[in-house]
Amino acid sequence: MSFFSQASAKKIEPVKRLQGRVRFPGDKSISHRYALLAALAEGPSEIHFYSAAEDCQSTLNCLERLGVNCRRQGNTVSMEGVGLEGWRAPTRDLDAGNSGSTLRMLSGILAAQPFRSRLVGDASLSRRPMKRIAEPLIRMGAKVHLQPGGLPPVEIEGAKLSPIQYEMPVASAQVKTAVLLAGVFAEGATEVSEPAQTRDHTEIALEWMGATIGRHGRTIRLEGPARLRGQKLYVPGDISSAAFFIAAALMVPGSELVLENVGLNPTRTAMLQWVTDMGGRVKVVNLEMLQGELIGDVRVESSTLQGGEIPREMVPGLIDELPVLAVLGTQTESGLSFHGAEELRVKESDRLAAVAENLRRLGAEVEEFPDGLRVAGRQTLRGASINTYGDHRIAMAFAVAGLIAEGPTVLSESDSVKISFPQFFETLHQVTS
Ligand code: S3P
Repeated sequence: MSFFSQASAKKIEPVKRLQGRVRFPGDKSISHRYALLAALAEGPSEIHFYSAAEDCQSTLNCLERLGVNCRRQGNTVSMEGVGLEGWRAPTRDLDAGNSGSTLRMLSGILAAQPFRSRLVGDASLSRRPMKRIAEPLIRMGAKVHLQPGGLPPVEIEGAKLSPIQYEMPVASAQVKTAVLLAGVFAEGATEVSEPAQTRDHTEIALEWMGATIGRHGRTIRLEGPARLRGQKLYVPGDISSAAFFIAAALMVPGSELVLENVGLNPTRTAMLQWVTDMGGRVKVVNLEMLQGELIGDVRVESSTLQGGEIPREMVPGLIDELPVLAVLGTQTESGLSFHGAEELRVKESDRLAAVAENLRRLGAEVEEFPDGLRVAGRQTLRGASINTYGDHRIAMAFAVAGLIAEGPTVLSESDSVKISFPQFFETLHQVTS
């Protein structure tokens, strides 16, 4: 059976416009962190608007196997924190599913436990690099064993950890988080320096829950051991899910959307910045702070975008938005290009190759570099069969492309959207009909 004829193939037809108000499910990155920190805290926590993403359920499943009691009712998760000492040795493998965040961030906690654990994932996660977390955790005193090529399963024999000063070779918020979570257990100051600013939800949440955090330029310092207090926490709407609707509304003439209660942490809003710089009519209103995180409503109207090069320093701040930005690039006046995004090759799929291949399937002109893409502007897209490689962000980016293509577009393995945004197609239907 070819990948186009499977049960989860989805047909997308061109639409006239997008209109209405949308509220997005809780941010995936922040949900993972609130769950891990609530588990590490003392006392009860309640997490409201917890992400519906399957990845975030993977985090809860792993926590359960480690003796943390998580109760989920709709999008509220209640948890009794086990503190630093209450973790139980798992009797089975910890299955992170498709979630790199679960596997990498949880490793920081497991590195400090007086027991062994083994983290596994699905076929896609089993191809993703883990040396980046093994290296600092080994330096802190844990034993970490990887498979040939630095791949999962990840076997961890925890130890009493020492603090380190760590210069991260790659700009990765997951690695930063793993080191900081290990630092929660270590006696003394753990310092992590990042080569470029990455999302800072972990630092913000650690501080909010009672840890002592310092920041100097690109270095974050955590005083350990850190005792955290359970809290009532509210997760902002996911800007990386909103990104697909922002791109769609910008491209489809006559569109006007209001996206409510979206997380607007400045380390996540580079896409908004770039499209605004290019002439996009995007307005942010009703700003407020929620547990140290900025939230607000985003109003977006269809616009003619100039296009151009995305500056390298912006790339870490829009890494998850690059597939849909590449699609948007085909509708700009002068096209779009970016470099410095080699990390896209080791996401849930090789996203540079997947975007280039699928844009070509739609008839667009695109050039692929080892670390980026160049997409020609003013392209007419023609509906085609899209190979999503089972990657949620490729499926959603090309669903957006299908809205402006001539004729129907068929996405393979479209059920992958459940990884980050299970209601994606329903939400799209709601604003296009
Ligand atoms: C994430 C960080 C990014 C991002 C991923 C979520 C996080 O990955 O691509 O979707 O929640 O910290 P890296 O840390 O590997 O860059």
